[in-house]
Amino acid sequence: MRKELAFEYDHYPDTSSLSGVEKELVIAARKVSENAYAPYSKFRVGAALILDSGEMITGSNQENIAYPSGLCAERVALFHAGANYPDSKVKILCIVADGDLVGDGILSPCGACRQVMVETEGRQDSGFNVILVNTKNEVLKFHSASDLLPLAFGKK
Ligand code: THU
Repeated sequence: MRKELAFEYDHYPDTSSLSGVEKELVIAARKVSENAYAPYSKFRVGAALILDSGEMITGSNQENIAYPSGLCAERVALFHAGANYPDSKVKILCIVADGDLVGDGILSPCGACRQVMVETEGRQDSGFNVILVNTKNEVLKFHSASDLLPLAFGKK
């Protein structure tokens, strides 16, 4: 028997349909991407998330000459949130990228980051929106991080 997995998201041609907070996240993610340490990939990524407390947390990718030691922007931000605000819930995560690999496309988060996002949703017992924005301001909006990783590894 063949089965299908639904994969839904909103696509906007620009950021004008985003809320005020969402627009702030896009600006913050772009700004923090300037702090990326990406001498090896030359691919700068920025992430900004907002907690239910209203606190905004940002992160950029940080690489290392021992390649696997580096970390993606999303996980820098999500782990910072977990380390410093363990009782707060992530409400929205925005990711932007600026580099040769992405071209005019939209950054699609790596599998490891999706797995961390899904576990964050499980830990806080509620989903959060994921907003991906490219350099042309095109937007993909996912209702829940779990939508980005159907059949995620997990115990439940
Ligand atoms: N990267 C991220 O920061 N987020 C992603 O979702 C994909 C990839 C980083 C990791 C590495 O520093 C560079 O982009 C190239 O893979």
